[in-house]
Amino acid sequence: MNQNELKRAAARAALDELVDGAIAGVGSGSTVDMFIDELGARRARIAGAVSSSERSSARLRANGIEVLDLNRVLAEGRDIPVYVDGADEIDGALRMIKGGGGALTREKIVATACGRFVCIVDASKCVERLGRFPLPVEVIPMARELVASRLRSLGGRPALREGFVTDNGNQILDVAGLELDDPVAFESEVNQWPGVVTVGLFARSGADVVIIASPSGIERRTASGARG
Ligand code: A5P
Repeated sequence: MNQNELKRAAARAALDELVDGAIAGVGSGSTVDMFIDELGARRARIAGAVSSSERSSARLRANGIEVLDLNRVLAEGRDIPVYVDGADEIDGALRMIKGGGGALTREKIVATACGRFVCIVDASKCVERLGRFPLPVEVIPMARELVASRLRSLGGRPALREGFVTDNGNQILDVAGLELDDPVAFESEVNQWPGVVTVGLFARSGADVVIIASPSGIERRTASGARG
């Protein structure tokens, strides 16, 4: 099986995690694109979706799925029991690096608004220790150099993602070379720097479930360590 086939297998397996009749939280990226296509064929099962990027919103609509406004859904007191998204890296404690597609801020917002986070990956995304994938950090443009110099002082090598503007009108620094021994502490620290919108570490609140597709099949792991 090639990587795309594995992504599709993980995406298909995530359908079993959805709550029938409920609103679905939908992430972003190539694995989620496949999830959206699978969901399109079963759109009667859900009451619409809350989306984490313009890209996913367009694909949801193209699949006949209504995209709901997060503020409105929450104001109406409606529940979003499950959020499905990919990751760039995920470790054994289900902490993740996300933002390779640049949608990290809205992903963190929607994930926080939803119940369970179901992460869908092919096995290449599973790591013992986070940090090989350059960490995306969304910054307010005027603070770019301020944030970059602080990241350098932590040992990182930040690079501006050239020609890219986030859905929120901001820029992304991709930071290589970081030692993420304590991802929770790192996320907390960088989050509070002026000019940082979002750090692409999802460690303080990671996934609840990960569905991993590998050539030997689908594996489902939970944050408590259960497998099935
Ligand atoms: C999007 O901003 C990211 O967080 C994605 O979830 C992540 O990059 C995984 O994307 P792929 O499914 O394309 O690998």
